[in-house]
Amino acid sequence: MRKPLIAGNWKLHNTVQQSEQLARDVIEQIGQTEEIEIVIAPVFTALAAVNTICKNSNIQLAAQNCHCIDSGAYTGEVSAPLLADVGCSHVIIGHSERRQYFGETNQFINAKTKAVINTDLTAIICVGETLEQRESGELFDVIASQVKSALADITATQMAQVVLAYEPIWAIGTGKTASSEDAEEVHAYIRGILYGLYGASIADKCRILYGGSVKPNNISELMAEDDIDGALVGGASLSADDFAAIVRYKKTLKISPQ
Ligand code: 13P
Repeated sequence: MRKPLIAGNWKLHNTVQQSEQLARDVIEQIGQTEEIEIVIAPVFTALAAVNTICKNSNIQLAAQNCHCIDSGAYTGEVSAPLLADVGCSHVIIGHSERRQYFGETNQFINAKTKAVINTDLTAIICVGETLEQRESGELFDVIASQVKSALADITATQMAQVVLAYEPIWAIGTGKTASSEDAEEVHAYIRGILYGLYGASIADKCRILYGGSVKPNNISELMAEDDIDGALVGGASLSADDFAAIVRYKKTLKISPQ
């Protein structure tokens, strides 16, 4: 059984103080559960402060990006060891906004994935197609190429430090979610790629998250699909109420107060 993972990507929002407040609210709303892994990803400048707040909770901390080299003359960059130093356990890699606006290539994303793994952190690697690519029938080729290049030279053992996230670009921040069937089709396809690369036992263990307008009202349907193991939530993760409602998608979830 794969443990569900719900991650909140706060993107470029919130000051340190606002991030601290949101983290406190999330902890208070969610309480303690062993059944779901919960990750939040504030902006770089708020990581240390939010780490202090999350220390005695079961909420884990992610960065939204990192550089592929640990240290050196790379003005403006932040490396995986520095993120570990402020308490991160996860790093989001290859988000479509990074690919689109900052020209991140599959090769660069692979180098970043290796840096995250070599630092003993978990990489949440994002893949996803544009509407144009989907409509022109390139969907599966695009996904295969993104998944295979991101995982180039990553060993079966290292796959324990990898989570994949399928985020169709046309569904991000648009209010348009892929139907759960459409999402499942791509998730099953990605798992098929993992079978081919690493065999059944690794492929069956790897979590594949869905991202793109995930809200409290569509999470249950998405999570009911066989190969959807969690969600990478953008907009709705900025509201503690909505994020908590997403985490509590399962009516039977056992939650104890914080
Ligand atoms: P939204 O949930 O706002 O569509 O964002 C999804 C996303 O990009 C998460 O990484």
